[in-house]
Amino acid sequence: MAKPKRRYICAECGGVSSRWQGQCPDCSEWNTLVEEAPETKFTAKHDLSSGGRAIAFESLDSPTKPLNRRSTGLAEFDRALGGGLVPGCAILMGGEPGIGKSTLLLQAAAAIAKTGGDVVYVSGEEATGQVRMRAKRLGLADAPIKLAAATSVRDILTTLGKGGAPDMLVVDSIQTMHSDMIEGAPGTVSQVRASAFELIRYAKETGTCLVLVGHVTKDGNIAGPRVLEHMVDTVMSFEGERSHQYRILRSLKNRFGAVDEIGVFAMEGQGLEEVSNPSSLFLSGREEPIAGSAVFPAIEGTRPVLVEIQALIVRLQSGATPRRAVVGWDSGRLAMLLAVLESRCGLSFSTAEVYLNVAGGYRLSDPAADLAVAAALVSALADKPLAADAIWLGEVSLSGEVRPVAHSALRLREAAKLGFKRACGPVDGGQDVKKLGYSDVGGVASLVDRVMASA
Ligand code: TYD
Ligand code: MG
Repeated sequence: MAKPKRRYICAECGGVSSRWQGQCPDCSEWNTLVEEAPETKFTAKHDLSSGGRAIAFESLDSPTKPLNRRSTGLAEFDRALGGGLVPGCAILMGGEPGIGKSTLLLQAAAAIAKTGGDVVYVSGEEATGQVRMRAKRLGLADAPIKLAAATSVRDILTTLGKGGAPDMLVVDSIQTMHSDMIEGAPGTVSQVRASAFELIRYAKETGTCLVLVGHVTKDGNIAGPRVLEHMVDTVMSFEGERSHQYRILRSLKNRFGAVDEIGVFAMEGQGLEEVSNPSSLFLSGREEPIAGSAVFPAIEGTRPVLVEIQALIVRLQSGATPRRAVVGWDSGRLAMLLAVLESRCGLSFSTAEVYLNVAGGYRLSDPAADLAVAAALVSALADKPLAADAIWLGEVSLSGEVRPVAHSALRLREAAKLGFKRACGPVDGGQDVKKLGYSDVGGVASLVDRVMASA
């Protein structure tokens, strides 16, 4: 028999080398290479080097079974999934600790169990008593969920193998799971990968819908290295500021639906409430027109969300270096817009501190928000409030022109629905919306004229 190949995996980045080294050649961390167990019962059983089976090829147009999607009982969750859970799919639910992943999954599990689904909820982090307490708080204590506290993948799969396969299996979290196929403490790359691999294999074989909870590290990756993202069908991220009550469920990868679709929730005393009209959440508290506030119609997936952009400009008397602080937007883009406003319109921000905030803790990355940000900045600088019933959209180029943006009809329709009367954007951008007045803003110079005139 050929000598089994040894592999060394870096516990930081997941890089693979064929020999042990003190420093990982990929991420340059020290003492992170760990040997991957060369031969286990599992690898021996599925070893391909000792004569494999012949596989049958299929044609692309051979008939496939339609996806029997199952609702999670939460319309916002279904929307982010692209229409519900698909049997046999593996979902990774990432998010910072305390954001509400366990709450969301317990609510979904309870809804599925109540409609006759067979649901198993395995908690590796909390004792069953803690999960029961949460269920009681959510008013879901009567849901027929099969609950267990376990961390051994073998125990879980043995138990599940005894009865019929459940419709849904929640594993909270994958970092606490331990597979005896491989050495190492739970949470290390090789353990996380091996445990996930066995669970996903089970899901694919039985048609169980598997949901793995994964904690996010401080730099935003799921489970340290991104090893799991390749293995699962769907990667979801549950986001939000812990100090704000709203949460956004985003799909980052989806083999069964579109990505960038979001679900919006609010964390209340009795669990997560669905928010079907997110604009109302992000625009709340706008009564008096204030200088430095502009409304922008953002797009999340296929859904428009109106958000408020706030700018504050403070003139400095001393010669100190003025600060630029941004929350919810890119600071590089703010610097670019300030430069465009300075050089194309002669406005001076150089002796002023500039603060920019997207209200409600929302994060924007869409260049279509340029015009709204510029409008907020000019309005704050001139101390003139913008019309309260106007929205702003358009991408600002370095030459100071305002360019058209994607999905503008969708954005304008949402604004009209929420009672806005006027949209300001690129030239000829408003033909297809009837109920909304439209003003052409061809460039930043005409933006400044408009703001100055709106006294
Ligand atoms: P949890 O689901 O435990 O977060 P995760 O699994 O992502 O770590 O939720 C944690 C927070 O949610 C906790 O700080 C309390 C809060 N919470 C509510 O505000 N209302 C509720 O009904 C529940 C169950 C939790
Ligand atoms: Mg949890």
